[in-house]
Amino acid sequence: MASEEVGALPDGPFEQRADQFGPDLRRALQALYGARGDFEAILARLMCIAQSASAERPSELRALDRARARDPDWFLTPDRIGYSCYVDRFAGDLRAIGGRIDYLRELGVNYLHLLPFLKMRPGQNDGGFAVSSYREVEPALGDMADLAQLAGQLRAAGISLCADLLCNHTSDDHEWALRAKAGEAPFRAYYLTVETEAETQEFEPHLSQVFAASAPGNFTYCPQLRRWVWTTFYPYQWDLNYANPAVLQEMAAAMLNLANHGVEVFRLDSAPFLWKQKGSDCQNLPQAHAIIQALRALAAIAAPAVLLKAEAIVPAAQLVDYLGIGPSAGKECHLAYNTNLMTLQWAALARGNAELLAEGLAAMPRPPEHTGWLSYVRCHDDIGWGVLRAGSASKQRDWAALRSFVSQFYAGESENSFDSGAVFEVTKGQAVHGTSGSLASLCGLERAQMKEDRGEIDLAVRRILLMTAVSMAFGGIALINMGDELGQLNHAEFARAPRFDGDGRWLHRGPMDWNLAAQRHEPGSVAARVFSGFQAMAKARAILPLANAPARIEAGPPSVLRLCHGQNGQQFLLLANFSSLPTQADLPAGRWRDALSQESALHDSINLEGYAARWLLQGSEP
Ligand code: GLC
Repeated sequence: MASEEVGALPDGPFEQRADQFGPDLRRALQALYGARGDFEAILARLMCIAQSASAERPSELRALDRARARDPDWFLTPDRIGYSCYVDRFAGDLRAIGGRIDYLRELGVNYLHLLPFLKMRPGQNDGGFAVSSYREVEPALGDMADLAQLAGQLRAAGISLCADLLCNHTSDDHEWALRAKAGEAPFRAYYLTVETEAETQEFEPHLSQVFAASAPGNFTYCPQLRRWVWTTFYPYQWDLNYANPAVLQEMAAAMLNLANHGVEVFRLDSAPFLWKQKGSDCQNLPQAHAIIQALRALAAIAAPAVLLKAEAIVPAAQLVDYLGIGPSAGKECHLAYNTNLMTLQWAALARGNAELLAEGLAAMPRPPEHTGWLSYVRCHDDIGWGVLRAGSASKQRDWAALRSFVSQFYAGESENSFDSGAVFEVTKGQAVHGTSGSLASLCGLERAQMKEDRGEIDLAVRRILLMTAVSMAFGGIALINMGDELGQLNHAEFARAPRFDGDGRWLHRGPMDWNLAAQRHEPGSVAARVFSGFQAMAKARAILPLANAPARIEAGPPSVLRLCHGQNGQQFLLLANFSSLPTQADLPAGRWRDALSQESALHDSINLEGYAARWLLQGSEP
């Protein structure tokens, strides 16, 4: 098989894979280090890292490599349901996660993203996104042996483990940072620094601000270095310098070591920021893609079962690039978060209108073959409204007005707001950034329960199920954020803990409410309605003819999203009414049945209650 034949994983020995994917690695490295005299040595060193990792790969994982080679699209089957949680707040520690596998299976989960669990900076650490060591588990959560054991348990239960690869930055107490501060030149070269504040100003005007209110600016002065360190995120998260090939070598070795402990999917954290170039916004640069492509080639050579997933919170126009387009098809990430779907869905819910959502989704480039989206409604971060801008949909819009509207709406500040969210990182004069809040609270459950209003509670539950039905019907892996399957609310008290230093995202990162989970079997309870709704969708999804993106997307009537999969064979149609008012929607010719209720012999048109979503399959027989 030629290296151009993408997606299919080889099952031969290391040398065969090196022959196959070596040219991809070389090409990616050319874009980064091609002008250097030691280019061949850089390439050889990386091959050596891959070779050692391959030699150390445990036999069960080699077997997995072979199985995946026979079925390269294994992660794109419609039964793929993901779940994302923090280890401590879901179970306590890594070992205890094993005790929760039955719960995950009950929900239909077969992909588990554990938020950062590697050794993290004490005190403030951005929820573990400030890594102190890539080779140690945070002691409170377990150790590397626990990780390998858990990964094995999950694998045996048919669940793939996903972990973050913090590839853009380390914590300021990582050994590399400490040695840099101690004056060791090789480690100083691991980080991006400039000497004077004036130099920072040569970059700043072009850069965005991720934590504009709590950590303004992109540089932090370090007295020990007597230099300004590039810190895109918090001041204690030091951006790595990939112009130094040693950094790529370290990151590749760290990734492959985790892969050999059983991590099957790597979430490439902050992928757009990996390369910086004066005069640019330092996001989505070709070299950032080349770094990812190098990691992909190395994984394909040393641990071919591994998948890469891009965390790129960027407008739709740039997003698909992370799945590898044109000559890079099949050579970059296998998966990427579908931020466009997520934000447009929330905008549709606030506006009670699905037209912009349909227009935006229809304008999105399709994922290349052998790649797919990770569809989600909520994650551990804020809903970043910044991605709603030109390119999110085909027509001209007043995007700034839309961003401002949704931000206010989900902060409960609009006349028709039903939710209890909060604005995130809003600064004076720069009104919009993101929204924090759990799925249930943003869908109005918190306010409705406070009022003890049964009608409002019912509407909130319908909104939760509507948002989930759309995300699960899009294609790719459908990801559930911990607690959303129970209608878990915001946790304002938890978010006030001093160690979170006012980071508003902790509003929706409270501990898993296992008492609420126990109510999932109490008929009529909110937890039971939400959980059984999620569970039924996860189950029904397995037999839907879902491609990696819908074949057709439109709105009609304006409040109803119509999303269709399947061409000539079986057809699947999602109808989702984003308005509180009932409406009628036409059905395409033929007889349809409801894939969830099994109601059959539907034709011509269908009545949709307010916030109703229907999953319809052509043909009246189950
Ligand atoms: C990613 C994470 C976010 C974190 C940031 C910096 O965006 O999702 O939680 O704050 O990276 O690591």
